[in-house]
Amino acid sequence: MAFENIVFEINEHVAVITVNRPKALNALNSATIRELGQAVDQLAQDSSVRALIITGAGEKAFVAGADISEVNSIESSLQGSQMSEALHAVLWKLGELPQVTIAAINGFALGGGFELALGCDIRLASEQAQVGLPEVGLGLVPGWGGALRVQRLAGTGVAKYLVLTGERISASEAQRLGLIEKIVPAAELLDEAHKLAAKVAKNAPLATALAKRLINRGAEMSLRDAIAYENGIFGQLCMTEDVKEGTSAFLEKRAAKWQGK
Ligand code: HXC
Repeated sequence: MAFENIVFEINEHVAVITVNRPKALNALNSATIRELGQAVDQLAQDSSVRALIITGAGEKAFVAGADISEVNSIESSLQGSQMSEALHAVLWKLGELPQVTIAAINGFALGGGFELALGCDIRLASEQAQVGLPEVGLGLVPGWGGALRVQRLAGTGVAKYLVLTGERISASEAQRLGLIEKIVPAAELLDEAHKLAAKVAKNAPLATALAKRLINRGAEMSLRDAIAYENGIFGQLCMTEDVKEGTSAFLEKRAAKWQGK
């Protein structure tokens, strides 16, 4: 599939999506969102891929938000809600992917850019990256789940602080708040993302896919319901060939060979 606004590459077990509109600091217009959705749909069908890295082209920005010129030309509430729904659909798909998704935040991740990163499983950032939810400064609220995902990750106080001030914070402050998992020098960011992807690829495919689903779905349940859900998944995995292989490999002191079933 040919893309104009993203670069989509698959190398062995790892896919990389690079949002590629550097002149607009990789802002997400509707064509870019459509292409993101198409790439993610393709991955959902590709069980050979174990991890997806999302990053931005150029040195300055991961993604500087929704394309503000598109927001400016919205003509109805319906059109605004449709814009909101468009990336939400992609973020839900990312959450349902069996692959682990890694945001490699190489610069500004603002508004919709931070929201895209928050829709990934793990966030790595370069030392000079900055994140923020500046939408109130444009007369908007974060419309791609940013306020609500920050609230779930870091608490109501942090969500209100970031959303109501619109302040940009450094990668290290975001890490302190639990919004970024790891910070590395810019030159090492993609290598680090690939190392992380390789760590994931060493583990059992079904187990990693179901662990991700357990955490994502469990976050929407009461603890009691989430534990019942975990119990079912645990039992299901106990009957896979991979669990026999993984436990045998441990006992025989060798590396496991996964079949993903
Ligand atoms: C469209 C953008 C853009 C954006 C930057 N550009 N961000 N174009 N949409 N979100 C363009 C600029 O217009 C400029 O184009 C070029 O990229 C370089 O940007 P500068 O502003 O000149 O760079 P700099 O001075 O270094 O400032 C960098 C920046 C700033 C701090 C990241 O660009 C900025 O504040 N951007 C907007 C961030 C933002 O408010 N994001 C939230 C968007 S709303 P030209 O042609 O002049 O070179 C949102 C809502 C999501 O995300 C929910 C929707 C449902």
